[in-house]
Amino acid sequence: MTQIREAWGSKLGFILAAAGSAVGLGNIWKFPYIAGENGGAAFIFIYLICIVIIGFPVLISEILIGRTTQRNPVGAFSMLSNSKGWISVGFLGVLAGFLILSFYSVIGGWTLGYVVETLRGSLSNFKSPEEAGVLFGRLSGNALWTLGYHTLFFFLTMFIVIRGVQGGIERSSKVMMPVLLSILVILMIRGVTLDGASEGLAFLWVPDWSKINGQAILIALGHAFFTLSLGMGAMMTYGSYMSKKDNVVSAAGQIVFLDTVIALMAGVAIFTAVFASGLNPAAGPGLIFQTLPAVFAGMTGGVYFAFLFFLLLAIAALTSAISLLEVVVAYFVDERGWNRKGAVMIFGGTIFLLGVPSALSFNLMSDVTFMGKTFFDVVDFIASNILLPFGGLMIAIFAGWVWSRSAVMEAVKEGAENFFEMNPNFETIWFIFLKFIAPVLIAIVLLNSLGIV
Ligand code: TRP
Repeated sequence: MTQIREAWGSKLGFILAAAGSAVGLGNIWKFPYIAGENGGAAFIFIYLICIVIIGFPVLISEILIGRTTQRNPVGAFSMLSNSKGWISVGFLGVLAGFLILSFYSVIGGWTLGYVVETLRGSLSNFKSPEEAGVLFGRLSGNALWTLGYHTLFFFLTMFIVIRGVQGGIERSSKVMMPVLLSILVILMIRGVTLDGASEGLAFLWVPDWSKINGQAILIALGHAFFTLSLGMGAMMTYGSYMSKKDNVVSAAGQIVFLDTVIALMAGVAIFTAVFASGLNPAAGPGLIFQTLPAVFAGMTGGVYFAFLFFLLLAIAALTSAISLLEVVVAYFVDERGWNRKGAVMIFGGTIFLLGVPSALSFNLMSDVTFMGKTFFDVVDFIASNILLPFGGLMIAIFAGWVWSRSAVMEAVKEGAENFFEMNPNFETIWFIFLKFIAPVLIAIVLLNSLGIV
């Protein structure tokens, strides 16, 4: 009756899949606009520190919990602790997977829609971001358009996950991640060779500390978390398919490296082009769907670059979406005895339906609000601002304080004996971050989201 659990075919396959989860709308849509709103270089500097002191230590822990137990988040916590409280942390992770995927797919759908609009030529005549904004308002305001592309995006996500860990997730990541990197390189070269690109580079390299305040630091902290897909067991689930012969620390380092480099490359590609066109870098969430289409429209061959850009976004979103669905599927497969296909159809279908009101939040249901927030905003807020930091806090506390240190070290050394011999201080530093620094900083982010500090 015991079936052999699925596993990655290689360490590289795992790294690409996990980097695919990490690299998403957060890197290409959100990171550039929050950096733009919070002063550029100084913000980026703080963000990099947050990645090193909380992102990296927590990522190692998440992957390690998964790899040690070879289970989904619920199964993982019940194997390691058997207490109801910790098991419910696993459940909250699965719940966060449900919620995040439901609205992530709506935005993922927009990126597919923009690929199609670019091919239809709708993006080539803008003279200003305002004109591009009108098109954006018209498209997102159209219920059929948002629902149709939400459906298409979801269909693609299910199509990959149904084929399994190796045959679906790993195989597609091995194709999509190199394509994503190649597109980014092309867009970056285009950006830095534009007249006036140097102003955009200066924006990214020369810090203006006057823009940094407590709020900016909290945004950087929260984003360090979101961008690495931490706090809900996605990395735990991917880690659960990892071989005990591979080194968790170096894998985590490579994932962090890829995620960070890709966010910075997206920043370079976008800001060189925005500055070269004399547009506003602090346009907020509309930077991608309003400012950039106007930038592309003014560029020779801009349609091709626009096409590549939206394709890049769509790929980034898709490789993240599959990891969200995999968390939910792994739970039903490991704990409830479902087969993969059934779990993808039934629970994928449920998440799809939950996404419908989010897709309609921009049109038919835009007037339906709860405390001033649309359905989309409420789901996003609960998941990204409450469940993820809470989950991250719990994972840091679990690995730092609850799981015995000797067991943690025994687990992390599997596949990494040489690494720990060559870096004798790594253990101490990792535990200081995990036990003290990460929990305190994450707790502040969480309390801030709840309006307490
Ligand atoms: N990391 C993804 C991004 O940058 C978003 C994300 C957050 C995510 N948490 C996740 C993706 C959990 C997959 C699983 O866009």
